[in-house]
Amino acid sequence: MPKHTHILIEELVKRSIQAKNRAYAPYSGFRVGACVLTTNGRIYCGANIENASYSLTICAERVAIFRAVFEEERGFTAIAIATDSDEFVYPCGACRQVISEFSDNPDVILINKNGETKTVKFKQIFPDAFRLKR
Ligand code: THU
Repeated sequence: MPKHTHILIEELVKRSIQAKNRAYAPYSGFRVGACVLTTNGRIYCGANIENASYSLTICAERVAIFRAVFEEERGFTAIAIATDSDEFVYPCGACRQVISEFSDNPDVILINKNGETKTVKFKQIFPDAFRLKR
């Protein structure tokens, strides 16, 4: 682990819990906050944004990743995901595919409502990502 990484991870966890407060989730009432730590050492955060046409909802993870990518970041080493659940909530399948596009086996840090964390390696939960091969 590079020097100071643990401090950045603590910051990532704290910021994900804060990001949850920015959720727009009037339909499900299920708030999610997510932040990525980029290879440049920057943090980008997002929260879920729902829609009256439910399927147009976007998850917190993708908001965070797309914000980073728009700022010309192209890789991240960790993603933290915070919810108000007792359980550790894993990223949905669509978000796993998006995570795979911009990272190489990052740490996935799950945060429950008590601020407890569980860390898994991304490839454990998404071993064979689709990649375009022509
Ligand atoms: N949600 C996320 O933000 N991330 C996930 O990985 C799964 C689900 C959101 C979408 C919706 O606003 C709410 O959680 C309930 O599905």
